[in-house]
Amino acid sequence: MTLRVGIIGCGGIANKHAEVLSRIKEISLVAFCDIIEGNAKSFNEKYAKGKANVYTDYTKMLEKERLDIVYICLPPFAHGNEVEIAAENHTNIFIEKPIALSLELAKNMVRVTEKYSVKTQVGFMSRFGSAVEYFKNLESKDETGNLVLFIGRYFCNSLHSPWWREKAKSGGQVVEQIIHLYDLSRYLMGEPKSTFSKMNNILHKNVENYTIEDVSASVIKFKNGSLATIAATNCAIPNKWIFDFHVVSKNYTSYFLSPNVVSITKTDIPWENSIEIKSDRDLYEAETLDLISAIKENKSTRTPMIEGARSLSLVLSVVKSAEENREVEVEMV
Ligand SMILES: NC(=O)c1ccc[n+]([C@@H]2O[C@H](COP(=O)([O-])OP(=O)(O)OC[C@H]3O[C@@H](n4cnc5c(N)ncnc54)[C@H](O)[C@@H]3O)[C@@H](O)[C@H]2O)c1
Repeated sequence: MTLRVGIIGCGGIANKHAEVLSRIKEISLVAFCDIIEGNAKSFNEKYAKGKANVYTDYTKMLEKERLDIVYICLPPFAHGNEVEIAAENHTNIFIEKPIALSLELAKNMVRVTEKYSVKTQVGFMSRFGSAVEYFKNLESKDETGNLVLFIGRYFCNSLHSPWWREKAKSGGQVVEQIIHLYDLSRYLMGEPKSTFSKMNNILHKNVENYTIEDVSASVIKFKNGSLATIAATNCAIPNKWIFDFHVVSKNYTSYFLSPNVVSITKTDIPWENSIEIKSDRDLYEAETLDLISAIKENKSTRTPMIEGARSLSLVLSVVKSAEENREVEVEMV
């Protein structure tokens, strides 16, 4: 079985997906689309030996190519009706996070993909970390005991791309980037009830068009009573990305150095007893293989479109809380 795949948005993250896709036997990369034709052409040379078709208009690509899967790797502000058109053409979808900048568009993406029963995978690759998987498995066997606390930290220091720095285009650091941690908090702790958050721009006020926050901190209350704090900044060590988190539950205190590495200490026994999980799993490959299995075996992916909408709802509530200086209820999509 060969799966015909096309990519919309041939930029930074699409390179990673194309590289993964080009080494999977059953995948044939047949079409590339970018509003900058040269970007799509260079993907064609690099990943399809020039044999794929190149487009500057995704509507044409989706209608002509009859793809099995489309990879949507657009910047947040550029999402429009591509999900709708793909679903109407019965094309399965991989879409990068955040899936949109408004909840209305995100809800429509959920509605159309469910209506046409296409498989969807949102790019929250951290869910595929072997440490995260191990913990999730403990949870599913009821071994963790009550969940209590999630603490997440995201440190970086980079100007990223011009669209990233503009609030109207990226939604800000929380919406575009820290959404990975917010999604993990939902994945591991359950659905959020409310959030109280603060954010500020302290060191980037004089950078042209830098209209997003460079520091943020939020408290989340989950429906099961557990809590999270998530803090992030773009003022830390230049060109270094630090992303770690802790989870405390009745029976385990866990420190995740990354989605693939965790040290779990049992707390339901009187002596210290730790479990170490460590791997170098390629998370991008794992999320793609999960989508392919879902298509072949007609089952759900780990992160269908609704998960993208729910995590978007959480980060939009974080932004609203900071803007309005009050606790905000998180809308359950
Ligand atoms: N999961 C991850 O680890 C990860 C990492 C980086 C980026 N991302 C996400 O991926 C998305 C893309 O980010 P990026 O860093 O690759 O951006 P990028 O700017 O490098 O690439 C985006 C590409 O989309 C093209 N484009 C814009 N509008 C278009 C349109 N209407 N039709 C066709 N092409 C269009 C641009 O010309 C550009 O080539 C963002 O949502 C970002 O948050 C995810």
